[in-house]
This record gives sequence, structure tokens and C-alpha cells, in this order.
Amino acid sequence: MSAVYFLAQIRITDSNLYQKYLDKCDDIFSRCNGKYLAVDSAPEILEGNWKYSKSVLIEFPNREDFKEWYYSDDYQEILKYRLSGAACDTILVFGKEQKPGNKILIRTERLTIKPITLADASAMFEYRTKEEIFLFQTFKPGTLHEIEDFIRNSTTGFNEEGRWFQLGIFHNSTMIGDIGIHFIGPENSQCEIGYTIHPVYQKKGYGKESVIGVVNYLFKVLQKHRITASTDPQNTASIALLESLGFRKEGLFKRSLLIDGNWEDDLIYAILAEEWEYQVN
Ligand SMILES: CC(C)(COP(=O)(O)OP(=O)(O)OC[C@H]1O[C@@H](n2cnc3c(N)ncnc32)[C@H](O)[C@@H]1OP(=O)(O)O)[C@@H](O)C(=O)NCCC(=O)NCCS
Repeated sequence: MSAVYFLAQIRITDSNLYQKYLDKCDDIFSRCNGKYLAVDSAPEILEGNWKYSKSVLIEFPNREDFKEWYYSDDYQEILKYRLSGAACDTILVFGKEQKPGNKILIRTERLTIKPITLADASAMFEYRTKEEIFLFQTFKPGTLHEIEDFIRNSTTGFNEEGRWFQLGIFHNSTMIGDIGIHFIGPENSQCEIGYTIHPVYQKKGYGKESVIGVVNYLFKVLQKHRITASTDPQNTASIALLESLGFRKEGLFKRSLLIDGNWEDDLIYAILAEEWEYQVN
């Protein structure tokens, strides 16, 4: 697991309220795995205007430890005093080359599957903005900016319950599609997947090969229990792909998805680890 750094820039506006935060801060902090690296009220300003009262830099061994502190009931209780007694800009920074998930590399016979980056935005824009691609998808981007936002929002929190993480599918060095993993409970034991292949590269077995590679990784490496996929009942390509891999049709949720103001049906497929026929050793 990788270290993360909590950086807070704080401009105190009400010292009484802020003091209420400080009164309990150290006691709560002493129970977590964080380490203060710096607390400075008069840093050396190199560029721009520093408009704060102090900067605080805290290191945590990993994002889980950070969350145990930040989202604890005790800290959330005093956080309200910090936020009402000061204007705060806070960020969580991941150690270089250590962002969770950025080391995943899945190789199949013809493909390399790895996290997408902003450098892939243009390639993704080219196929993700085609109507035939987004017809059955909730994400219907219109601009490069939307694709860039999507990439930023879907490349953190790998293997964290509740998060979607997006991987790119590459043939040689050309991006030919992408595949997302939604980490879900209970106890982060299941995943939902969603896949897209550039129209030029469809019907060549790349969709199937990508799903086999990713599902193998999820069952074998991450030891997941069950993988699901949600598809529009009219999406014959997606249904054919899932059924060709042995995914079981588990249910049709009538008019359960609100897409562009219309209630759409949602067909759910799933497979259990013990049912998966493409296991690799
Ligand atoms: C769904 C999608 C990823 C399939 O990718 P693909 O690379 O064309 O699929 P593959 O070539 O690996 O084919 C997998 C299986 O599906 C079948 N298949 C693929 N497209 C099909 C189609 N349009 N109609 C019927 N069967 C189809 C193939 O024959 C193959 O079956 P087989 O192994 O039994 O021969 C692709 O059509 C796509 O990107 N669609 C748009 C995005 C989308 O809707 N994603 C799904 C969201 S739930």
C-alpha cells in the first residue's frame, strides 16, 4: 500500500471556533496512523500570494488509514468547527508512482489493459462520442473536457468499495477501448464491469479477450466472489459477449434506469468465481 499526504491550507476567520477544533484535534489524531510532517504559520513564499494562516502536511501510510481518521465520527464532529472557524483548502496527494491501481497491468494474447491517463483522452474521445457507442450507455460525452473529467474521476480509489476504476484496452500501443470496474459490497467482494470497444475494432474478439483478462484478474488476483454486468435488453452485442463467456442472466429490472429523462429497462448478468471457466493458474 502507498503513502498519501493530506495537505491543508487554512485561513482562520474565527479563532474561538477554530480553538474548539484544536482542543480535541490532538487527542483524536493520536489514535490514528498519521504523522505530522509540517505545521507552518509563516512558510517561505516562493510564488503567488499565500493567503492563509497556516499550512499543515500530514502523512498516512495508505488511503485506508487516512479514511479511518478523516471519516471517523470523532473527527467529523470537530471538523465542523474547523470549517466554520476557518476557510480551508485541503487535498489528498498520492505518493509518486504509488497511486492505488496505477500499477495494474493485464496482458492477454493480443492486448494490454492498464489504467487510462489524460494522455488517452483524445483517443477515447474519438470513439466514446459516437452515437453507436453511447447508445446503450449512461455516459454520453460531448466534449474532450468531459472525457478528461471522466478520466480524472475514474482513476483513483482502485479496489475501494463504491468506486469505479477505468482501464484502457491497447492493441500494440493503440487504444481500442476501455473497461471499467465498479467495486461493490458486501465487504468489497463483488465487482460490476462495463466495457467499450472502438467500432473499428469490434467483432474481432477484442471485447471478449478484454473481459476474460479483467475477470481473471478480479477472481484470481483480487479474489472477488462475484462479477456482474448491467446491459440494455436491446444491446445484442453486449448480451452476446456476456453469454459467450458463461455469464448468467439474473434479472430484468423494468424501467429502473433513468437515462436522458427516460426510464429504461436494465438486464443484469452475473458469474461466480467457482463458475468461471477461463481460470488461469
Ligand atoms: C459490446 C462490445 C464491447 C462487444 O465488443 P466486441 O469486441 O465487438 O465483441 P467480440 O468481438 O469479443 O465478440 C464477443 C461475442 O459477442 C458476439 N457479438 C459481438 N457483437 C455482436 C453483435 N453486434 N451481434 C451479435 N453478436 C455479437 C461475437 O460473435 C462473440 O460471440 P462468440 O465468441 O460466441 O463468437 C461492443 O459492441 C461495444 O463496444 N459496444 C458499444 C458499447 C456498449 O454498448 N458496451 C456495453 C455496455 S453494457
